[in-house]
Amino acid sequence: MKNRLTDSPAWKALYSHFQEIKSTSLRSLFAGDAKRGERFIIKDTGIYFDYSKHRITTETIDLLVRLARERGLAANIEAMFSGEKINITENRAVLHTALRAPKGSIIMVDQKNVVTEVHSVLEKMTRFANSVRRGEWKGYTGKPIRNIVNIGIGGSDLGPVMAYEALKFYAQHNLTFRFVSNIDGNDLAEAVRDLQAEETLFIVSSKTFTTLETMTNARRARTWLLERLVSEQAIARHFVAVSTNEKEVSGFGIDTLNMFGFWDWVGGRYSMDSAIGLSTMIAIGPDNFYAMLDGFHQMDEHFHKTPFERNIPVIMGLLGIWYIDFFNAQTQAVLPYDNYLKRFPAYLQQLTMESNGKHITLDGTATDYQTGAVYWGEPGTNGQHSFYQLIHQGTSLIPCDFIGFRKSLNPLPLHQDYLIANMIAQGEALAFGKSADEVKKEGVSDTLAPHKVFEGNRPSSTFFMERLTPEYLGKLVAMYEHAVFTQGVVWGINPFDQMGVELGKVLAMKIIPELQDRQKPLNHDSSTNDLIRYYLG
Ligand code: F6P
Repeated sequence: MKNRLTDSPAWKALYSHFQEIKSTSLRSLFAGDAKRGERFIIKDTGIYFDYSKHRITTETIDLLVRLARERGLAANIEAMFSGEKINITENRAVLHTALRAPKGSIIMVDQKNVVTEVHSVLEKMTRFANSVRRGEWKGYTGKPIRNIVNIGIGGSDLGPVMAYEALKFYAQHNLTFRFVSNIDGNDLAEAVRDLQAEETLFIVSSKTFTTLETMTNARRARTWLLERLVSEQAIARHFVAVSTNEKEVSGFGIDTLNMFGFWDWVGGRYSMDSAIGLSTMIAIGPDNFYAMLDGFHQMDEHFHKTPFERNIPVIMGLLGIWYIDFFNAQTQAVLPYDNYLKRFPAYLQQLTMESNGKHITLDGTATDYQTGAVYWGEPGTNGQHSFYQLIHQGTSLIPCDFIGFRKSLNPLPLHQDYLIANMIAQGEALAFGKSADEVKKEGVSDTLAPHKVFEGNRPSSTFFMERLTPEYLGKLVAMYEHAVFTQGVVWGINPFDQMGVELGKVLAMKIIPELQDRQKPLNHDSSTNDLIRYYLG
């Protein structure tokens, strides 16, 4: 049995250190060290990571790194990269890193080199994506495909939508992309309302191919198509599947020749660079998709090989632990200053919260410390005119990740300078605030002054890159994936299962027949019974 985290020497040392520095201000830390802005920076893989505006000293980082060592992070990283079955509750390897391993690499799982299989699927995706992009893949009536509708949910949706939005600049603009996830019929109805069936391809994306939402939407999409094209033979030209479950795919009526596979060692929320990215590849083209994989791989190499003190995901993960467990922060804001990244916070919500939203450790006992934060955010500068008030002057400590690029993909005069000035200013304002003296010097009345004071000392990281390219998107996603893993290891939880999503699904399956047959006796609690009766009317 692993030692309890809170009993570990590094944890105890961190606790005493926290008592010493918890009231130290960022103003005094910067005043006491002219080189602080250079000291707490990591530049690697083209990412400029500034973590100087955190409530830390070099001792904090030393202790956090010591904690990571005591918790066996190095061995765990090796175990993950080498394909050991570290997802112990599901007895699976965790090998999203194999999805972006260069051709010719060797990673063995159950006596098979999985990299060979990965590349053979990538090649099949490439052939298919090219044929759709070139108009060679014809619909049943002989017309080329113009509309691609991805049907999936969770990891089979959030990655594809986020990547499509993030990389829209690179997309082939004569193709329309839609993403249907919700079981709410409004989602599918609106997605297909203006589409011609003859020109529409549905990609049914589901690791299990049993998910209620996806299968219900896929069946309805098939009905929609058949109502318009009549012949069952049309299905083969208008439906393809991405899944690990060949049997269910053929049971649905999709020819397994039109199926793109992946493997049980790819978690749903770690799958956007597997065949789940088929819509992404069709949108941006195989070369860009491979560039994205290369970006992922560069960050994998960085995480795998860089000493913890200079390791971006390790430092990010440890800083998260510092705030969650010592400063009692509950949430983490992710604030991309690039509108193309508007779905990035939503994507990260599944990645982070489905991974680390757990309170049972690997040895089956409950934690006596906090784990995963709530991740949330919106792009800047929109968020500034909405919720930043609370980050600046509210009662919660909310660490922020600012993400920005030096160059805009659409360099309209002035816009980029205004955008990035705002991003940099927010980090500065959060860290240093504005004191009562400063406010009063501006001639503000004593009555109003308290309202205009910014206490500052609110931490943030800034991630700066050159330009939003497929390669940088891959790096960014892998960076958060590995930060999540770092935290999971330190907390002693399994970031790769998601058992907390099951109970609600099971209860919904019991309630569905009760909504369809009002004669069924209801034996829930009184609130649930009454909600069902209210719905039945
Ligand atoms: O309900 C949670 C979940 O299992 C996610 O982990 C997963 O990404 C999503 O459902 C979709 O699952 P599938 O790809 O099997 O349809």
